[in-house]
Amino acid sequence: MSPEFRDAAVQVTYLVASVLFIFSLKWMNSPQSARRGVWAGVWAMVLGVGGTLLNPAVAVSSLPWIALAVMVGGLIGVPLSKVPLTAVPQRTALSHAFGGLAAGLVGTAKYYLWLHEGGANLTTFRMFAISAEVILGFLTFTGSLMAAGKLQEILPGRPITYRGQLIINFLTLGGAIACATGLIINPQWFFLFPPLVILSLAFGVMLIIPIGGADMPTVIALLNAYAGLSAVAMGFVLDNTLLIIAGALDGSSGLILSIIMCKAMNRSFSNVLFGAFGSAQEAAGGEEGKTVKSASAAEAAEIMGQADTVVIVPGYGMAVAQAQHRVRELYDQLTKRGIKVKFAIHPVAGRMPGHMNVLLAEADIPYDDLIEMEEINPEMPQVDVVLVLGANDVVNPAAKNNPKSPIHGMPIIEADRAKTVLAVKRSMKPGFAGIDNELYTMDKTLMVFGDAKAVVGDMAKALAGDSGMH
Ligand code: TAP
Repeated sequence: MSPEFRDAAVQVTYLVASVLFIFSLKWMNSPQSARRGVWAGVWAMVLGVGGTLLNPAVAVSSLPWIALAVMVGGLIGVPLSKVPLTAVPQRTALSHAFGGLAAGLVGTAKYYLWLHEGGANLTTFRMFAISAEVILGFLTFTGSLMAAGKLQEILPGRPITYRGQLIINFLTLGGAIACATGLIINPQWFFLFPPLVILSLAFGVMLIIPIGGADMPTVIALLNAYAGLSAVAMGFVLDNTLLIIAGALDGSSGLILSIIMCKAMNRSFSNVLFGAFGSAQEAAGGEEGKTVKSASAAEAAEIMGQADTVVIVPGYGMAVAQAQHRVRELYDQLTKRGIKVKFAIHPVAGRMPGHMNVLLAEADIPYDDLIEMEEINPEMPQVDVVLVLGANDVVNPAAKNNPKSPIHGMPIIEADRAKTVLAVKRSMKPGFAGIDNELYTMDKTLMVFGDAKAVVGDMAKALAGDSGMH
């Protein structure tokens, strides 16, 4: 094969891969086409790797090294794909860490390679791209490792703060940018490169430690954007159009996702990055001085059995308890009696976007019964029973009624407007935002205390007329 033909084949492969990446994102927007979207992404990746191997610039002598890297990557990647759904945010953070590390290392290798060759290739533009790649890549690497550690509870989830933190953070980033500027002015000032790497690695750690563990999903989406941008810079360094396109898609989708999350929580970026929101969790107590009415699972089941419509509001507690299959049993029992059952889905219920949709799909709950917040809220006054299942903040009326509440303005599922509320959780402890929830002390509310999986299982059994309760 002539080098010209190979070059043309590479460009065609990259073009097809780019189109597939774009369609992959589009198809992943809807549950009906999501599977196709995943396959489009897989094939785009295969074409990307295959196209790169075809590149005449890839020496045959490099192939064993590439094979070794693929094997090492596979050995790490395959177990990572098997984590439970609740661990997906930290798994995603690890993927970003690897992406960031790869970008940082490629930038470093290219700098030293071109420097060794005399520096003619280190043009101002290339040096600018290398600097951006190294700063973004290495800060994404350490930042994502910190985020994964916090989510996996290997590191303390609480925000770590100290005096002068903001200034030290800015000085660290400023130092990295100063080194980069020096290298752009004169690429031969190689002594600036190690501090550029070290300061970027340090900044990643310092950026994440003051943020509470519970805010990590939003931060991870932001780190996704950084990883994408570092890939764009890498694309410019390597003169690779596919990397530029895929990186831009990755970067912009990460940014859009974090904006969606912030909007759904009614918070700003600066509030997530500097607000230490999750820290309040330990401080808040129960709803002191207010009466809480509780019921057993069987009593709650009886109430649901009398209803015409039941709306289930799933939240983080359902995910932790892995209660989705019991929910399916309850759904079957209720629909068998002719009761209309719908699921009210809040955009940030749980801890990652689409968390509830994925869990309910796993239990084969018909997708048409999953109703988005804006659509279900107007129907709430006609709903006989709302079953709040391990959800807390996303149904907290304080978001509407209490201007002083930290979640004031966050759109909620208006469970409080239904005729009767049944709330399943283990205690009166607050949720993610660390604040009390007046829904639980309303006259129309009955608490059903216990683990969501056990309670919902008991409800389904009670409806089925089974006496063997837990
Ligand atoms: P939360 O407000 O976190 O409340 C979950 C509730 O589940 C807790 O009150 C807890 O009460 C209960 N729970 C925990 N384990 C349980 C179990 N095994 N069985 C039964 N109940 C259990 O959840 P939510 O309403 O889904 O709200 C999500 C929060 O996360 C929002 O504040 C949102 O802003 C935030 N957030 C979400 C995302 C995304 S993208 N989804 C990203 C960042 C932040 P007990 O301890 O008493 O059981």
